[in-house]
Amino acid sequence: MAAPTTTSGPRRTRTLRTDRWWLPPLGTALGLSAFVVYGLVRTFMNTWYWVPEQHYLAPFFSPCLSEACVPGASHLGTPFPDLAPWVPPPVFVLPFVLGFRLTCYYYRKAYYRAFWLSPPACAVTEPHRRYTGESRLPLLLQNAHRYFFYAAVLVAAVLTYDTVLAFHGVNGGVGVGLGTLLMVVNVVLLWGYTLSCHSCRHLVGGRINHFSRHPVRYRLWTWVSRLNGRHMSLAWASLFSVALVDLYVMLVASGAFPDPRLIN
Ligand code: FES
Repeated sequence: MAAPTTTSGPRRTRTLRTDRWWLPPLGTALGLSAFVVYGLVRTFMNTWYWVPEQHYLAPFFSPCLSEACVPGASHLGTPFPDLAPWVPPPVFVLPFVLGFRLTCYYYRKAYYRAFWLSPPACAVTEPHRRYTGESRLPLLLQNAHRYFFYAAVLVAAVLTYDTVLAFHGVNGGVGVGLGTLLMVVNVVLLWGYTLSCHSCRHLVGGRINHFSRHPVRYRLWTWVSRLNGRHMSLAWASLFSVALVDLYVMLVASGAFPDPRLIN
């Protein structure tokens, strides 16, 4: 067994764990950092997000609500003006999508451990002297999660609509390409992540004293609870699929990669 690590001051054992407990927080830090860097680069790239022939819209730019959006990409109209070349269309929607992920119960645990080391892992001492939890600003704002959940449901509905439009044949009619299939998988994972949310579980099954008097809500609660047990996996899978579909649409839109068609 490895010798326990100690800190200065009163003699404290940092941890008695001998496994590689630092691997999960390290993986989380690398995964989330990679996504944030990709998302920032992609957002401010502000191009190659719409493929007119196949009607593919990159999820980072959906819904495209600004007059700056390229023609055809605004399925819901353009209520916002073209503010400036350095203000890309996603700035009107991204705060809600990011807010949903940032305030998610699972992600909170993950990034508190990975970036704030609070604590880095179970049974490992954290470096901070004081612990105030989420009882004061800015972490008090984490309580807004349920409101971000409502916004996330709307965004998932819009991405579902985008996916239906992606069943567009290059010569009109119905068509299916690799991009269509990737978009279908992406919305399934996004709905899985959104509906497995703890706020959703509370919404359908909370504040009830007798499940026997609410059979429909009880049924919904059991479904959401089953999904909720996979919330972590769905969080990562949907994060990966959003980035993958976005990258795919970018490559097709830029002409770097032709979309293989199953049905033209
Ligand atoms: Fe993770 Fe709501 S708890 S999305």
